[in-house]
Amino acid sequence: MDLKNLKVDIADNVAVITVDRPKALNALNPETLEELYGVFTELGGDDDLIGVIVTGSGEKAFIAGADISAMHDFTALEGRMMGKLGHRVMDTIAAFSKPVIAAINGFALGGGCELALACDIRICSGNAKFGQPEVNLGVTPGFGGTQRLPRLVGAGLALELLFTGDMIDAQEAARIGLVNRVVEQDDLLDECRTIMNKIAKKGPLAVRLCKELVQAGMEMDIARACQYEADLFGVCFASEDQKEGMKAFLEKRRPEFKNR
Ligand code: CAA
Repeated sequence: MDLKNLKVDIADNVAVITVDRPKALNALNPETLEELYGVFTELGGDDDLIGVIVTGSGEKAFIAGADISAMHDFTALEGRMMGKLGHRVMDTIAAFSKPVIAAINGFALGGGCELALACDIRICSGNAKFGQPEVNLGVTPGFGGTQRLPRLVGAGLALELLFTGDMIDAQEAARIGLVNRVVEQDDLLDECRTIMNKIAKKGPLAVRLCKELVQAGMEMDIARACQYEADLFGVCFASEDQKEGMKAFLEKRRPEFKNR
């Protein structure tokens, strides 16, 4: 795929996608969103892939939102299409079968915060700033901020951020559970790779099913969700991974999992 707005590096079966529009603080225009969709779709077919790390170019911004200069003249229909395109990308990231980590290296605002919310794990650098400033522009969030943010941090904190458009710093984001932890900017990608390397040693099917269970289960009532967990727990016993994992434990050796 010919990419103008993204860089994609694959090393040791981990893909790092860098949104590369530093002059616009990596804002998401429609072309960048289409490229993200294309890259995630392509990576979805890579059976050897362990997972994906998403970050932004430069030291100032992860993604400063949807591209305001691309949107300011939109008609209502164009606005709706932009919202649908954004959701197609965020849903693709959320449903991606392998773990996706957001390495948040600066401003994560509007659509940038929403992209981070669609990832499975969020790690940020100390200079990161988060917010849903759309009300400053006279619009609501359009890529999932009103839905994924309250599910992660609770309705009260989400509504304060949505109503005021205030930015919060990295430490506050960690305190409210918006990010898992804060690390030095220089260590950010290494920290994300360390997480991926740990995941790489685990049962690949089990990792995939954990994601599916959390994603789907959070949309169900607890009784159905627990039944679903019991079902997929049972499914694991049809896999070589389960046989190998439990045999290795009993033989006091490391398991050798296959079938990523
Ligand atoms: N869209 C387009 N361009 C953007 C942008 C965005 N979201 N954010 C920053 N830029 C551009 C600026 O226009 C500026 O370009 P020029 O150099 O050509 O003037 C360049 O990036 C650098 O930005 P600033 O000069 O503003 O940098 P700063 O350090 O003074 O401020 C900032 C940084 C606080 C992040 C500020 O740029 C800002 O407030 N950006 C907008 C954030 C925002 O409102 N995001 C939400 C967008 S709407 C959305 O995302 C809807 C949705 O849910 C889908």
